[in-house]
Amino acid sequence: MLVPALAPVLEKTEQVRLNVSIVGSGAVGKATGTGLRQLGHSVIFCDNDSKVLEGLKKEELLVADSLAAGLASSDIVMICVPTPTVNGHQNLHHVLEAATEIGAALRYASSFKVVAVRSTVLPGSTRREIIPVLERVSGKKAGEDFGVCANPEFLRASSALEDFLSASRIVIGESDSRAGAILAGLYAGLRRPIVRCGLEEAELIKYASNAFLANKISFFNEIYKISRKLGVDDKIVSRAVSLDERIGGYGVIGGSAFGGPCLPKDLEALITFVRELGLNPGILRETARVNEEMRSDQ
Ligand SMILES: NC(=O)c1ccc[n+]([C@@H]2O[C@H](COP(=O)([O-])OP(=O)(O)OC[C@H]3O[C@@H](n4cnc5c(N)ncnc54)[C@H](O)[C@@H]3O)[C@@H](O)[C@H]2O)c1
Repeated sequence: MLVPALAPVLEKTEQVRLNVSIVGSGAVGKATGTGLRQLGHSVIFCDNDSKVLEGLKKEELLVADSLAAGLASSDIVMICVPTPTVNGHQNLHHVLEAATEIGAALRYASSFKVVAVRSTVLPGSTRREIIPVLERVSGKKAGEDFGVCANPEFLRASSALEDFLSASRIVIGESDSRAGAILAGLYAGLRRPIVRCGLEEAELIKYASNAFLANKISFFNEIYKISRKLGVDDKIVSRAVSLDERIGGYGVIGGSAFGGPCLPKDLEALITFVRELGLNPGILRETARVNEEMRSDQ
């Protein structure tokens, strides 16, 4: 069932065939591009690592000789490059490098193109850092000459393509409604709920989702420790709790810290971001602390 407040931003859109270039063809880029091909779109992969491109060629996927060549024929450019957390802060180096190259190609574009930021970026990054680079290098105006969307991905690296194809929702934060409509058309074939919203809302949706999942794992790690202290079977407890549909099964089996490429780095970057907003990241900090404790117990 839809949350009533979300209903107005979920919409049905007609499927159209679009040309897409993927900038950064790792876990997210490859799954996104491969999934979009399955929906009937034409996809060209770009990456600054020649080994990645060689691997894609072996799978008979179309790769671009250069980013400019890939972009020239594209309606949509998707930025899927890494956003590491360095010393607690989000590092946008790869994203801004990609934006600089995309901006250079946009300068010569004769049609309206949409740049979609699939990388995980903190609220405000697209408006305050990525768009200014695109505008400065292209000499064009976002929302008028080209569109920009914050379009986070929620997949897990272990089941990337399957997760892309069965996404619980597509989130499109848009600089302008034309850009949002084009991106909604790209995903229409997935037949999943589409949430169209502002740039910062889309960016925060991604961090809120990851922080909640991290919090759930830390919570059930506490239940695990309580169970062990009591000498009761933590799995029986967790599984029974998870049968409540409001709670669900993800992350309920305690005993290991969360890891992987996203949850720790996104939680850490969010904690710093929240502190810098002048707020207290209480639950977020405790989630990270419980996880550190769990990691050292393992
Ligand atoms: N891996 C996941 O499970 C996952 C899930 C959701 C979101 N994300 C987010 O998606 C983004 C990408 O993550 P990933 O796991 O796919 O990373 P990845 O390291 O698997 O792939 C990134 C690719 O980008 C390439 N690259 C870096 N700079 C480039 C540039 N300037 N131009 C062209 N290519 C460049 C790299 O060579 C690499 O192949 C990150 O922001 C991450 O937080 C990741």
